[in-house]
Amino acid sequence: MARQKIAVVIGANRGNGLEVARQLGALGYRVILTARKKAAGREAAKKLVRVGLNVEFAHLDVTDANSAKDLARHLKKTEGRLDVLVNNAAI
Ligand SMILES: NC(=O)c1ccc[n+]([C@@H]2O[C@H](COP(=O)([O-])OP(=O)(O)OC[C@H]3O[C@@H](n4cnc5c(N)ncnc54)[C@H](OP(=O)(O)O)[C@@H]3O)[C@@H](O)[C@H]2O)c1
Repeated sequence: MARQKIAVVIGANRGNGLEVARQLGALGYRVILTARKKAAGREAAKKLVRVGLNVEFAHLDVTDANSAKDLARHLKKTEGRLDVLVNNAAI
């Protein structure tokens, strides 16, 4: 069986990021849905999990280098690789 591909979507608690996360999930990706607001990110991820998608929330504020390093460490440990990065976050 082919391994499941891993996608990280940045700024995915709402807007385009959330929709991209949904569509990648529907295509069969395991999606790491990131947001700087933890509650909003968790809620968005839960909505996608409820419709059967493989989605996990991870915190990321792109203006905080430590936050980015924490996510990189987390991904290395839990997934070991990354297939797709959607750098969507913006003002
Ligand atoms: N909508 C359009 O018509 C359009 C057209 C062309 C390009 N784009 C681009 O597409 C992207 C998304 O647009 P959108 O309309 O979906 O925007 P949006 O609804 O305002 O969503 C932006 C997302 O980025 C997140 N974000 C902002 N600053 C962040 C930070 N420092 N760290 C992590 N996440 C952060 C926001 O999180 P919070 O909820 O925490 O604020 C939100 O989840 C942007 O890059 C935009 O420039 C959009």
